[in-house]
Amino acid sequence: MGLKDRLDADRRAKRTSELGSVAHWRERLLTEINLDDLAALDMHQRRTRLEKVVGHLISREGPVLSDRERGSLVRRVVDEALGLGVLEPLLEDESVTEIMVNGYDTVYVERGGKVERLEVAFASEDQLMQTIDRIVSQVNRRIDESSPMVDARLPTGERVNVIIPPLSLSGPIITIRRFPKPFTLEQLVALGSLDNGTAVLLASLVRSRFNVIVSGGTGTGKTTFLNALSGFAPNDERIITIEDSAELQLQQEHVIRLESRPPNMEGVGQVTIRDLVRNSLRMRPERIIVGEVRGAETLDMLQAMNTGHDGSLATVHANSADDAVYRLLTLASMSEVKIPFEALRDQINAAVDVIVHLTRYPDGSRKISEIGVVSSARDEEFRLETLLKFEARPMDVERRVDGEFRCFPLPHHIAARLYAAGESVPAAFGVEHGHGPSAFGKAL
Ligand SMILES: Nc1ncnc2c1ncn2[C@@H]1O[C@H](COP(=O)(O)OP(=O)(O)OP(=O)(O)O)[C@@H](O)[C@H]1O
Ligand SMILES: [Mg+2]
Repeated sequence: MGLKDRLDADRRAKRTSELGSVAHWRERLLTEINLDDLAALDMHQRRTRLEKVVGHLISREGPVLSDRERGSLVRRVVDEALGLGVLEPLLEDESVTEIMVNGYDTVYVERGGKVERLEVAFASEDQLMQTIDRIVSQVNRRIDESSPMVDARLPTGERVNVIIPPLSLSGPIITIRRFPKPFTLEQLVALGSLDNGTAVLLASLVRSRFNVIVSGGTGTGKTTFLNALSGFAPNDERIITIEDSAELQLQQEHVIRLESRPPNMEGVGQVTIRDLVRNSLRMRPERIIVGEVRGAETLDMLQAMNTGHDGSLATVHANSADDAVYRLLTLASMSEVKIPFEALRDQINAAVDVIVHLTRYPDGSRKISEIGVVSSARDEEFRLETLLKFEARPMDVERRVDGEFRCFPLPHHIAARLYAAGESVPAAFGVEHGHGPSAFGKAL
């Protein structure tokens, strides 16, 4: 056995014995406490009470431990008795953006855009299943062989997906997406996700009621970007947001937030994004913001955009700006109303103005990789004019992705609409020179 194997074996043995003792103390704790007493306390008091009891138990019956070891053991026992066990400290860690549990003994997290495996594990598959039960029962759902996939939420609002055997061949799987931290467009500029000129332009486009679609793959920052863009909608407009799980955090005063609902245990009561988009049209919206279009609601959204609800924003899952347009076409055709292909194309040509495409790069950074403007007239084939492209340089020694945002002149019809709305156009987009980023500065 090589040194590395010996160290690994040693670490594994240590972890197993630690886990054993956490499970032991948790058992002891459950025999010692009075559950009725506990029920009367709030979460914070419960934790304090349990920590005290475990502390006494360990002092009385346990091994001699340093203060630090003892503190950490007490915390782990209480975390497991009360909350989500080994996941609790990860949920408290602000730098963790995603938690992935692949079976009871494998936990990955995403930090700063990078995925890493951690040296933590649940004591057993049973214990992992208990934690899963705790999560799904909070949203009144059930998970078992007959319904082995559930979307749930933590009390703090985080999205959780659970899938168990027999569908998962790798044991019970939990995926927790932390609430995306709200970034302003200015903060995204500081992170290098776009440059200042582009931010100025996008802010003007939103203020002047262009319909903007944010596209990108999973976890590329679409929701974060949509949230930042929506910050430029004026404060006096009536805005309706529609989402599967309410992640957008608009700061305006007059915002109505709608959230879809999955069917309940009996399979009834579902309210889809589509139902909500249709309903929102009867609520006198001035702007509609759809968290993500992924089905027939796309048609309703396009129709809304074409019937006086300009300034709408949405995200769509796609591989490029060009792909996003075709994706909208496919999604819109999923409606039960059979509309000829040409008619759908005409709707998209008339409704969609700008597509902002995001990409996640190998160093974990997210950037606008492309902005396209739909320039085709109503009855033409799709034609996208490129407004911006990110050109990455070869990676440096620190494996950071750097490069240049190349800007192209703004098509005339867009520039004309911006001027008509009293906005200026940043010099980088080549239409008119001499207008600095004052319009952007004002709104930030
Ligand atoms: N520009 C950015 N720079 C760095 N991190 C970012 C950026 N944008 C988003 N993130 C982080 O990336 C993660 C995913 O973001 P977000 O939820 O917005 O992506 P998404 O594309 O909407 O994902 P999904 O496909 O699951 O809906 C979050 O943790 C978020 O904080
Ligand atoms: Mg999203």
